[in-house]
Amino acid sequence: QEDIFKNVVSHAKEYGFIFPSSEVYDGLSAVYDYAQNGVELKKNIREYWWKSMVQMNENIVGLDAAILMHPTTWKASGHVDAFNDPLIDNKDSKKRYRADVLVEDHAEKINQKAQKEIEKARARFGDAFNEEEFVATNARVVEYLSKYKEILSRLAKGMTDDLQDVKALIEELEIADPETGSRNWTDVKQFNLMFGTKLGASADSAMDLYLRPETAQGIFVNFLNVQKSGRMKVPFGIAQTGKAFRNEIVARQFIFRMREFEQMEMQFFVRPGEEMKWYHHWKETRLNWHLSLGLGKENYRFHDHEKLAHYANAAADIEFNFPFGFKELEGIHSRTDFDLKAHEQYSGRKLQYFDPELNENYVPYVVETSVGLDRMFLAVFATSLQEETLEDGSTRTVLKLPSVLAPTKAAVLPLIKRDGLPEISKKIIDDLKWDFTVAYDEKDAVGRRYRRQDALGTPFCITVDHQTIEDQTVTIRHRDTMKQDRVKISELKDIIENEVSM
Ligand code: GAP
Repeated sequence: QEDIFKNVVSHAKEYGFIFPSSEVYDGLSAVYDYAQNGVELKKNIREYWWKSMVQMNENIVGLDAAILMHPTTWKASGHVDAFNDPLIDNKDSKKRYRADVLVEDHAEKINQKAQKEIEKARARFGDAFNEEEFVATNARVVEYLSKYKEILSRLAKGMTDDLQDVKALIEELEIADPETGSRNWTDVKQFNLMFGTKLGASADSAMDLYLRPETAQGIFVNFLNVQKSGRMKVPFGIAQTGKAFRNEIVARQFIFRMREFEQMEMQFFVRPGEEMKWYHHWKETRLNWHLSLGLGKENYRFHDHEKLAHYANAAADIEFNFPFGFKELEGIHSRTDFDLKAHEQYSGRKLQYFDPELNENYVPYVVETSVGLDRMFLAVFATSLQEETLEDGSTRTVLKLPSVLAPTKAAVLPLIKRDGLPEISKKIIDDLKWDFTVAYDEKDAVGRRYRRQDALGTPFCITVDHQTIEDQTVTIRHRDTMKQDRVKISELKDIIENEVSM
């Protein structure tokens, strides 16, 4: 699995999808740049989301609120007081860690020992292996798994009751600094994840601001503006995509957890009392959206939250099977009227809706869907990246992206660089580029060019050869099947359209 993940990171760099930020200065931790192909894939994911949320729903409209907001926003939302991670410093190495992650990593190691035992037994017993029975009866595995569960449940308790319990757990488990081995820790402290900045030039008049840690608050504070100017009727939604910033301490796993990332969020405003109906509606709708990309049903699962944030009365994650296991991809939260009421309280303005059918004013309840664009990118990219063994025994690397998301829809390749073939190729591109992103490539043998387009995820290669001059036909090669058909140039647009449209 580690190898798969390394492969994902290096493929993303080698083929111009993702580079570390400011790499000439050795990069900036947990910040990444999207390169020529990455930016197209990311844009296509964003558009796929936007179309299904905004274009396809009459009662959902878009918004693009500013990243900088009045600082009281974050008092009202609870982020100033409660958007924290528990940190512990090592007194010797001066390194800082997330206390919960140190414990989780330790627990995970114990879990892995159990998994190893299971795999060993599976290899030994073959078809006769009964995993359930083995897990229940093998003394070592029973011990590992119960220890694993015990640590996680004590961690969860310590995280809610008293952070010093977490420190005690670190000491009891004899967890050491992963880099230096030292066990000399400070107390566990809360650390706020928001990035601060200043508005204004002079020291006295400057105002402390935050870079938004979520896009949702821009929607809440605009709720009534949108409702009135758009004559929206409850239930209705406001959707937004945009950057969010969090000073994450455990920043690892590539673009899974970044300090600057993009969210795609939708707040759905409903009548109080109807929120559970809509919560279930959106849970199902959002899962179906993910499934529509065809990455495999088995790669998704729900995780219903038992412990709820102070503002929520129901919450679930859609988890995805990333190269490092099932992890949160999207959150669906029933946020009650917490946010709108808090903004009413802090601003002194009414944020109420007049419901003409009920003839009554109320603060709507909110059901939120929130998905990380970068996490979507990682899910799509990692799952699509495949190593295939072909019939002749050779292998190829192919990025089997859903065609609708592919950065380049077709590459046009003249068989050779002369006899007018490049000119015909360019003419084909000129016709197609109004509708699709199209690439041109004349370097290397055509077989190698096919492989390169496979690795870039391009669904079609169109090859122009000498026969093209005679009868206006080309070969079109399909990325996944590698099948080639001879078709008329005039048919190309429909063939591509058919495959890549939403
Ligand atoms: N408005 C609700 C909200 O922000 P969240 O669970 O904190 O909820 C929503 O974040 C989604 O944003 C997550 O499911 C994840 O996909 C993405 N996300 C959160 N933190 C992230 C980070 N540091 N890097 C990349 N994506 C992140």
